[in-house]
Amino acid sequence: MLRYLTAGESHGPALTAIVEGFPSGVTLDSEFINVELKRRQGGYGRGKRQALENDRIIVDSGTYHGVTTGGPITLRLVNNDAKLERLQEPAAPRGGHIDLAGAINYQTGIRQVLERASARETSLRVAVGALAKLLLRELGITVFGYVRELGGIAAPPLSFDPAVRDASPVYTLNPEADAAIIAAIDAAKAAGDTLGGITETVVTGCPIGLGSHAQWDRKLDARLALAVMSVQAIKAVEIGLGVEAARRPGSRVMDPIAYEPDHPADDRRLGFRRPTNNAGGIEGGTSNGEPIVVRAAKKPISTLAARGPSINMATKAPQPAAYERSDVCAVPAASVIVENVVAFEIATAVVERYVGTSLSAIRAAHDAVHELRRKHLDEWGVEDRGA
Ligand SMILES: Cc1cc2nc3c(=O)[nH]c(=O)nc-3n(C[C@H](O)[C@H](O)[C@H](O)COP(=O)(O)O)c2cc1C
Repeated sequence: MLRYLTAGESHGPALTAIVEGFPSGVTLDSEFINVELKRRQGGYGRGKRQALENDRIIVDSGTYHGVTTGGPITLRLVNNDAKLERLQEPAAPRGGHIDLAGAINYQTGIRQVLERASARETSLRVAVGALAKLLLRELGITVFGYVRELGGIAAPPLSFDPAVRDASPVYTLNPEADAAIIAAIDAAKAAGDTLGGITETVVTGCPIGLGSHAQWDRKLDARLALAVMSVQAIKAVEIGLGVEAARRPGSRVMDPIAYEPDHPADDRRLGFRRPTNNAGGIEGGTSNGEPIVVRAAKKPISTLAARGPSINMATKAPQPAAYERSDVCAVPAASVIVENVVAFEIATAVVERYVGTSLSAIRAAHDAVHELRRKHLDEWGVEDRGA
């Protein structure tokens, strides 16, 4: 089983992840991970913290001459802004944060819980997801995330060109929307306010049959929802049409099934194709060979420069919530985090389906299963399916 845990505080000395069950034989390209870390640090609207940090991954275990061994992989990031022991205890908890419920739950101060709850932790989730992408790219699977909406301003993709996203200060695929989005972020900042938005992640090249219909906790859509919802400040997750599916008649939701065995690109899907993809690539908890489409809604940052009403924890008298250096908008960063969290879940499903301790074993299992499926379809008879 492929899994990971993270450890570390926002202003502690370092953040660490241990990845267990990653196959051997994958070249661990640290620079690829560093590019993803840099993208997470960027995007218009971030606070001053990102200028202090220069996230670069340190690999402490699980490789030999740069290639994974199958042993646990330890990934570490050093915090330049390490000052945990010198930070003061906030007097009044911030709404929208762990501050109040966490301090009561753990019977600590606010500092202890907010430091762990902070989205600084997502840097490791990006590193772990980027590691997963190194495996996925060996199998021809790509994962691509971008911003679709920010501060209520829609930015539908005009193309799916990675260069367009990477040239956008707010990571959209719609240069025409960027100026209005940037102006909205500036206006929010001037007003002491913050903005949220919607990210979309598209996974292409997935084989049919990741996940399973057979048990609730093996459903791929359910696993993706858990993973994405666990990202700080994500408040809703959609697959395919998502909420919009509830508003349409069935005839405008169901994706027709077509068969074109000679289509050059369709070997992976055994000739079956879907002219529409309202299901977002997952039916019955199982990938159907179409692109997997996951949207995530991120709430605006809760720490407001125009401090919200709160209570002094010692006196219980009204006092404005604490304010610490904070982002005005972290939706572009969230698009990178969600993209990498999705990548890890897809890699987990791949390792589960094509069980193997090494990349070559996983490849061999993938090819063998593909041949079995082809045979199964070739031998399919009307009378012998028990219908
Ligand atoms: C990339 C990213 C950056 C964030 N930066 C901040 C920040 O600077 N200040 C802040 O108050 N919250 C920030 N948040 C949001 C909080 O981490 C999050 O709202 C908080 O941990 C409470 O968790 P919840 O919103 O999931 O309930 C950020 C979230 C993400 C994903």
